[in-house]
Amino acid sequence: MIQSIVVEGRTGSSRIFVGASLDRLGDHLPGGRTIIITDPNVERLYGHRFPPADVITIGLGEKHKTLATIQEIFDRFIELEADRTTFVVGIGGGIVGDVTGFAASTYMRGLEFGFVASSLLAQVDATVGGKNGVNFKGYKNMVGVFNQPGFVLADIEMLKTLPAEEIACGLAEIVKHACIKDAGYFQYIEDHCDAIGRLDPQVMHKLVHDSVVIKSDVVNQDEREAGERRKLNFGHTIGHALEKTLGISHGTAVSVGMVMAARLSHQSGLIDLSAVQRIENLLTRLHLPVQIGFDPLAVFEALGKDKKRQGDKIKFVLLESIGRARIQDFTIEELGRWLIPGK
Ligand SMILES: NC(=O)c1ccc[n+]([C@@H]2O[C@H](COP(=O)([O-])OP(=O)(O)OC[C@H]3O[C@@H](n4cnc5c(N)ncnc54)[C@H](O)[C@@H]3O)[C@@H](O)[C@H]2O)c1
Repeated sequence: MIQSIVVEGRTGSSRIFVGASLDRLGDHLPGGRTIIITDPNVERLYGHRFPPADVITIGLGEKHKTLATIQEIFDRFIELEADRTTFVVGIGGGIVGDVTGFAASTYMRGLEFGFVASSLLAQVDATVGGKNGVNFKGYKNMVGVFNQPGFVLADIEMLKTLPAEEIACGLAEIVKHACIKDAGYFQYIEDHCDAIGRLDPQVMHKLVHDSVVIKSDVVNQDEREAGERRKLNFGHTIGHALEKTLGISHGTAVSVGMVMAARLSHQSGLIDLSAVQRIENLLTRLHLPVQIGFDPLAVFEALGKDKKRQGDKIKFVLLESIGRARIQDFTIEELGRWLIPGK
């Protein structure tokens, strides 16, 4: 079964097909020249199923999500004589998506592009919402554009080859979506942890679909992150600081970050303690960590460098209950006193 969801951005609309197979990618292409951008893992596993096209393979990992890679892609575009009629498809995880979207959006002032999202994080998060870009001088996603892809295919079958730690990264975002927007979805995840552990295709389809609906609803209200879209940062403010200072995976950092944000929500008089415990239990059952040792001073310093900081304030996402988030301003000093009691 294929379900389609539309994201309406200022730059155009994007249609996301949950459950569409990579084998049907050709049906979504406009018919002219196509260039595929992918990474070596995805090419090794799935290259034989790509439709006829020139293929550009970028390096693996965040260290390749840079302007240098974009330049290499531009060089290849020139070599391949890409023009305004060329269609570009990124087949891979969030890194391939972010790089493809940025290269396609800027080359010759913009080529049409689409994605086949092959990681769980790309399916539920990275390819939904039109943010494309690269890291710059150690700052994540510092240079980029908002531009909606023409289509996104979320092929659930491709998740079978995804390493467990990459599944965990996607699950952390799925729990985040439930925490900020949908108590019924949270309950569904609680009821299906075992099936999720087995990557049951029907359950994974439902998770990808419901997460895409939540994220696209938020993006449709606030594409440029002036208000509602900020709620998607639940667990991410602390999470990014942990990721940066401890060098841990994004999924680990977001999982611990959500628990810390839930605890702060409780300390701020919002969510019940029993709900905080429910979140911790769910993450634990999904094999995500709920605590980690860290240097509070280093995390505090990293928070101070948060790119979303506005003056001495940070917009922090708190939970009123499971399924309901609110944005609250905290000064850096207030967060410092919370992280370092007695400061
Ligand atoms: N644009 C956005 O709105 C947005 C949102 C969230 C995250 N992101 C970005 O997404 C990136 C992370 O995405 P990611 O977690 O997908 O990382 P990734 O692209 O590095 O993919 C993770 C790993 O899984 C491999 N892989 C992908 N699909 C596979 C499959 N089907 N089978 C086997 N291996 C597979 C990749 O080769 C890679 O080694 C970050 O750079 C982050 O900043 C962007």
